[in-house]
Amino acid sequence: MRAVAQAQPNIALVKYWGKQNLADNLPAVGSLSITLDSLWTRMEVEFSSELRNDRLLIGGHHDDEMLARVSGCLDQVVGTDRDRAIIQSETNFPIAAGLASSASAFAALVMAADAACGKSHELLSLARMAGRASGSAARSFYGGFVELRVDGRRIDTVQLLKDDEWPLHVVVAITAETAKPLGSTEAMIRSAESSPFYSSWVERQDEDLGAAREAVGERDFAKLASVAEHNCLKMHSVMWTSRPSIVYWNRATLSCMQTVRELQNSGVPVFFTIDAGPQVKAVCLPAAADQVAAALQETSGVSRVLQSNLGHGARLVASA
Ligand code: DP6
Repeated sequence: MRAVAQAQPNIALVKYWGKQNLADNLPAVGSLSITLDSLWTRMEVEFSSELRNDRLLIGGHHDDEMLARVSGCLDQVVGTDRDRAIIQSETNFPIAAGLASSASAFAALVMAADAACGKSHELLSLARMAGRASGSAARSFYGGFVELRVDGRRIDTVQLLKDDEWPLHVVVAITAETAKPLGSTEAMIRSAESSPFYSSWVERQDEDLGAAREAVGERDFAKLASVAEHNCLKMHSVMWTSRPSIVYWNRATLSCMQTVRELQNSGVPVFFTIDAGPQVKAVCLPAAADQVAAALQETSGVSRVLQSNLGHGARLVASA
C-alpha cells in the first residue's frame, strides 16, 4: 500500500499553451519536449484505512494549497472510494518558478499511486491521468524527446528519440527563486480569452511541431534551435498581449537571452527557451556545455545555473 516514484521535469521546445477543454484539462495544442536527468521529484504515496483525510507534505512541510489537486489526481488513479493517503514529495530544484515542477510532481504522483494501490495501468493511461492534473506531466513518463498529440478528446504520447540517441545538454539560468505571480492554468485561460494572437498561435502550432519533429529525426541542431526559439517567443507574445498582460520575464531573463545571442554569434551551438517563469533554459550540444554555463553564470542577475543531460521517464523507486 506504499510506493515511491521518481520523475524528472521536461522542457517543451514546442510549447503547450491553452486548453481545449477545462474539465479534462485537454490541451489546445500538441507539444514536444525533452526530459531532463539531474533534476528530480520523488513522491511517496501510502494508503491507509486508518486515515480520515489525505495529507500532503512537500519538502517535509504540510501543504494544504495543493492538496485538493493532489487528492483529485489520486481519485482518478484509484477511484473516489479509495483509502486516504499520506503523500510526501521531495524535489531538488526550486518549485513553482517556471521549472516544470508540476510535470515531475504529477508524473511521480500518478506512478507511485498506481503502484501503491496495485492497479498497474499501462504507461499511456498513466500519462493521460497525469495530464488531466497538469498537461505537461504527461510528457515526463518518457525519456529523451517526447511529442504529445491531441487526438480528439484524448492525448497521445510518442517517444521520438531516447535520451542517448541525441544527447543534448541543458543549462538553466536561475534569475529568481520566488514562486511565479500567476499559475499557468489561470494564465492560459486569460490568454485564450483576451490575446488577439491566441487563435493564430493555435492554428500555426502544427507547422512548428512538424518542423521540430523533422529536426529531431535528422538531429539537425540549427533547425531545432530556430523552431524552438520562434515557438517560445510566440507563446510569450500571446502572454504579453493578454489583458491584463502576463509578463513572466525579469531584467535578467533578457540579459540571458542576450548572452545566448552572443554565444550564437560566435558559433556556439545553443538556443534558449523560457516557460511560465523568469528562468532561461539554454539547450546546447554537450561540447558547448561548459562555455554556455560559464557565460550564463556571469550574466548580470543570474543567481546560479543548474545543468542537466537528457534523462529517462518516470520510474518506480520502491513499493511495498
Ligand atoms: C509554459 O502543464 O503547468 O511550461 O496543465 O495548467 O498544469 P497545467 O499547465 P502546465 O503548463 C506548462 C506550460 C509551459 C509549456 C510546456 O511545458 O509545454
